[in-house]
Amino acid sequence: MFQHTPKVEFVRSVWRRATVPVFLCVIALQSGAASPQSEPIPPATVTLRQAAAVRKINIGAAAASPYLTDADYATILRTEFSQLQAENEMKFGVIHPRSDADPNPYDFRGADALVSFAQSHNMVVRGHTLVWHNQVSSWVKEGKYSAPQLAKILHDHIETVMRRYASKVYAWDVVNEAFNDDGTMRHTIWFDQPGIIAGAGTQYIEQVFRWAHEADPSAKLFYNDYDAEEMNKKSDAIYAMAKDFKKRGVPLDGIGFQAHVSLKFDDPAKLASFAANLERFAKLGLELHITELDIRLIDSNPASLTAQAKLYGEVTTLCVQQPACKLVQTWGFTDKHSWIPGFYKGQGWALLWDDKYQKKPAYEAVHDALAK
Ligand code: XIL
Repeated sequence: MFQHTPKVEFVRSVWRRATVPVFLCVIALQSGAASPQSEPIPPATVTLRQAAAVRKINIGAAAASPYLTDADYATILRTEFSQLQAENEMKFGVIHPRSDADPNPYDFRGADALVSFAQSHNMVVRGHTLVWHNQVSSWVKEGKYSAPQLAKILHDHIETVMRRYASKVYAWDVVNEAFNDDGTMRHTIWFDQPGIIAGAGTQYIEQVFRWAHEADPSAKLFYNDYDAEEMNKKSDAIYAMAKDFKKRGVPLDGIGFQAHVSLKFDDPAKLASFAANLERFAKLGLELHITELDIRLIDSNPASLTAQAKLYGEVTTLCVQQPACKLVQTWGFTDKHSWIPGFYKGQGWALLWDDKYQKKPAYEAVHDALAK
C-alpha cells in the first residue's frame, strides 16, 4: 500500500488552507526538482478550475450535450472548468418547442444531460436564457397571441423551467440583449411586438425578474448583454436600469458581460473603460460575470495566437482584480465547436483549445492570470 510521505502530507495540509501565496508555494513544491526524498514528485498539474478556486471565482464554459460522449471534450470540460452553461439547450426554442396545448410542450433532455454531467463532476450550472428575442419557438412567434396571452406563456415558461432546475442552476440570465447599441429598447416580441405588458421602458424586464424571483427565490438573477463591456450608450442604459431596480428592490443580482471580442479590444483605453464600467456596476452591489468570452481571429498564425493570448490574459485579470467579478466563462472551449466561424465569416480560432483539443497560448494566459 502506498504511504504518504511527510512532504506529501504537508503539501496536502497547506492546500486545504490555500491562499494565493500558499498556492504558489504548493506549485513550487510539487514541481521543484530538488527533493530530499528519493521518490518522484509528480509534476504540477494545476487546472484552470483549481487556479480559479484559489481566487474564489468560477471558470466556466458553454457546453452542448451531444458532445459529452466525446471523451476528449468531456474530460477537458470536467477537469478544467468549475461551471458549465448550456450553449443552446435551455433557450426557449430548444427547451419549449411545442405549444402549451400539446401534451408534451417541453423537451428537457439536453438541459437535463448537462445538469447531470455537471452534478457528477462537482460543477455548478448557470442558466441561459429565459427572455431573449432569438431562438424563440415558432409556435410563439407565429401564434398571433395578444399581450396578456403572451404574458401567460412567458410566466408559465419561467416558472416551469426555473422550478425544474431550482437548486441545480445557481444563476440565470433572466433577460438577454434587451437594449440596442444606442441605449434604446430593442423592439422584440417580449417588449412591444406585441410585448407582455402595456408599459414603457424597462417595465417588462422588471416584470420578468419578479416572476423569476418568485419561481426560484434562491437563484441569482442576471441581466446579460454584448458590447456593453465598455462605457457606452448601451452600458449606460443597462446601468440606469440596474440603479433604478436596486433602488426600488426589483430582484436583480448581477450583470453578465458577454465579451465576444476581436483583437481590436486589446486597446488600453478600451480595457480601462471595461474596468471602470465593472466598477460602477460593482458599486451598485451587483455580482459581475464575464459570460461568453471568446476572442475571434482572422487566422491562426503564431503571432495571432500570441496576441489572442495576451488579450485573454488581460480580460481574465480584469475579473480577478474586481472583487465583484465572480466568473470568467468562455463560449465553448475548443475551436472544434465554436459559433464564431458560422456567425463571423472568415473568422474563428476563438477559444482556449484548438480543434484537436490541444491547449493554445490563450490557455496558458488565462491560467497565468488566474494563478499569478
Ligand atoms: C449562440 C450559439 O453559440 C449558437 O450555437 C446559436 O446558433 C446561436 O446562439 N449571445 C448569446 C448566445 O447570448 O446565446 C449566443 O449563442 C451567442 C451570442
